[in-house]
Amino acid sequence: MSRVFNFSAGPAAIPQPVLERARAELLDWNGTGASVMELSHRGKDFIALAAQAEADLRELMAIPANYRVLFLQGGATLQFPLVPMNFARAGQRADYVVTGHWGEKAVREAAPYADVHVAASSKDDHYLKLPPRECWDLSPSSAYVHYTPNETIHGVEFHDVPDVGDVPLVADMSSSILSGPVDVSRFAMIYAGAQKNIGPSGLVVAIIRDDMLSRATQPMAKIFSYAEHAANDSMLNTPNTWGWYLAGLTFGWLKEQGGLAAIDAINQRKASTLYAAIDGSGGYYQCPVEPGARSRMNVPFTLHDPSLDAAFLAESLDAGLLALKGHKAVGGMRASLYNAVTLDAVQTLVAFMSDFARRHG
Ligand SMILES: Cc1ncc(COP(=O)(O)O)c(C=O)c1O
Repeated sequence: MSRVFNFSAGPAAIPQPVLERARAELLDWNGTGASVMELSHRGKDFIALAAQAEADLRELMAIPANYRVLFLQGGATLQFPLVPMNFARAGQRADYVVTGHWGEKAVREAAPYADVHVAASSKDDHYLKLPPRECWDLSPSSAYVHYTPNETIHGVEFHDVPDVGDVPLVADMSSSILSGPVDVSRFAMIYAGAQKNIGPSGLVVAIIRDDMLSRATQPMAKIFSYAEHAANDSMLNTPNTWGWYLAGLTFGWLKEQGGLAAIDAINQRKASTLYAAIDGSGGYYQCPVEPGARSRMNVPFTLHDPSLDAAFLAESLDAGLLALKGHKAVGGMRASLYNAVTLDAVQTLVAFMSDFARRHG
């Protein structure tokens, strides 16, 4: 069996040691004689697993004690409406900074539950740059400011946490969580779908500052309430036990790699290797994103002649390089370089790109 180098944007590569451990434990997890998928989430074995996963995530991200960590379902997409339902009064203003597709979606899904205000957008720049902080139209009375630190489709990333004063800052960190250290205390809430840097799809990690949990005033079913999920240790209903288990294994793997500072250094190297190959190709390959806004996790690029796209995709697949096709909204190619994508994978991609350019001149 040979594994490909997987550049998928999500669901994405999972560290091989994590998959191997899961395979080894599939039929008999923790000496129970059953798969982790077959056990009650209320049993002592799973409760211990859940607690360990949370403890490891807290350690990795240095999450302060006044934050709750939730393991939820419904994808990042479900958080788009839950954020205003839980944090805004009906009709209260909420500020959104839109730097790509996912920010647009967050706005659309929040609109029924708050007075959604687009405080800044780079749409007119085709989401190829970030709107300068001094141009954001924020209000001190807004319920929160929402932004997307890394836009997965457009390949645009904030490299600093924006200063929004005392207004709670909410971040959809789906495609950049755990890619490097981040000061959690700057945020009121961080949420992330698991299927990029955490594990399989179907799990969402939410990190919420305690005081945010008492802000809900809109009528809602318990299942939509972050406070209820927190009060029930993310077990208000049956959680995604398999996803939680794999997330825990991934956190353990990340600790073995040396934590987020160490993975950050590798991620920087991976990204700079690929951007250097693109920028050094004499225009054969191009990345349209402004250099200061380029993502370390998702690298969109085009070929100088789009009629070569099909050949590039077919030949890259033959070379064991999976999922390089760009999102249809952007076209061209995209290489996602999440934590599980090794430097070796990126070096192999870069060598392929150079060889392709030589052969197809
Ligand atoms: C930044 C970002 N936000 C939200 C989503 C939506 O996630 P989900 O499909 O898990 O709801 C994605 C998916 O790729 C994403 O990249």
